[in-house]
Amino acid sequence: MAVTWNTYKTVSQDVTYGPTGIATTTVAKGSVTPWNFGGIDRFTHRAVMTNLQPETSYTYKIDQRTFRFKTLPKDLKSYKVCVFGDLGFFHGNSTESIINNGLAGKFDFIVHVGDIAYDLHADNGRVGDDFLNEMEPLISTMPYMVIAGNHEDDGFNFTNYQMRFSTPPNGFNDNQFYSFDLGPVHWVGVSTENYGYYYAYGVDPVYTQYNWLKADLTALNQRRSQVPWVVTFQHRPFYCSNTNSAECQSFENRLVRTGWLDMKGLEPLFLQQSVDVGFWGHEHSYERFYPVADRQYWNGNDAYNNPKAPIYIITGSAGCHTPDAEFTDKPWPWSAVRNNDYGYSIMTVANGTHLRIEQISIDKKEATVDDFWIVKDLQHLHTSAMRNASPGVKFPPLKCHFKDVACTRSLKQINEEL
Ligand SMILES: [Fe+2]
Repeated sequence: MAVTWNTYKTVSQDVTYGPTGIATTTVAKGSVTPWNFGGIDRFTHRAVMTNLQPETSYTYKIDQRTFRFKTLPKDLKSYKVCVFGDLGFFHGNSTESIINNGLAGKFDFIVHVGDIAYDLHADNGRVGDDFLNEMEPLISTMPYMVIAGNHEDDGFNFTNYQMRFSTPPNGFNDNQFYSFDLGPVHWVGVSTENYGYYYAYGVDPVYTQYNWLKADLTALNQRRSQVPWVVTFQHRPFYCSNTNSAECQSFENRLVRTGWLDMKGLEPLFLQQSVDVGFWGHEHSYERFYPVADRQYWNGNDAYNNPKAPIYIITGSAGCHTPDAEFTDKPWPWSAVRNNDYGYSIMTVANGTHLRIEQISIDKKEATVDDFWIVKDLQHLHTSAMRNASPGVKFPPLKCHFKDVACTRSLKQINEEL
């Protein structure tokens, strides 16, 4: 279990830990990295607690402060995950519910699909400090798995994101993309911001991530019978039916989905590697999709039973100060359910063949506003035709400037280009 914390003073701090009620004498040596943002000195501390026993409560201490967490069982088969994006310090509508339900044991860890605090770097980083202090009662007790959104760019190549979070190592000393296995699920976090900010930070991060992801998923597929589910999480969506961003057909979405110039897009790779589920944020709403592959879709009664293509969920409604996620009158045919309440998602990993996804509404006092199961046979993969697919690589030239992320062409124009 990794612990990451920041101080304003240059102090050396370690973590001491041990089974709750017995002793907190084991030392996890902390590293210190100084950084300055907006004229404020901060010191990032990172330590990793190792040799932990399964299903055991641990107490850990940093300086005079004491925290506690519980490890997951050995041979873990089922668990619950809280997934959301776009949660701010101000207007954090879901924050209280997430903290209360997490502390009540309603889920085992958190996936935050980008746009964190609005913004981590605002007010010289004080908003990031405030947000993480606010979340501390929960995120000191369970893993907080994050991925960067467009709001994490602080003008200095995601410094605040890089310094405030630790993720499982990916071999590149970079927390922008990573994967881990937990029970029957291979979790993969990828950065859409490498694409979104390529004009600022270059194309190399896109190539690096793409090659890593291809190798990671190829290796996973060698042991897919042991880890049958692949669940990805990223910030910017491939598809949506919100009126802004031209229903996710604008440049920023197609750049990520289909690629641009020499940068390869993510959707063909997801299809080739038989990705099961993808969580997205960025649009401040909830939208569930039918299995969809390069705008081909399967919306029959058994669409979620041995699905023919990946199933995507936008869960970007946790709490944002610009709730501009108005839906179009007529959704894309691959859109299954839309909800514009504030809220967050709970995914239950039941076993190697069953996943359940529920959407919790804050506006409706934590009522469930969507609830569905994804079921597949243990050996189920998408068809070989799908896995050989390379859709979208030859899309026609876009008529927007590449920096025009909110490309405002009419849908008629876009459809003519498609
Ligand atoms: Fe965003």
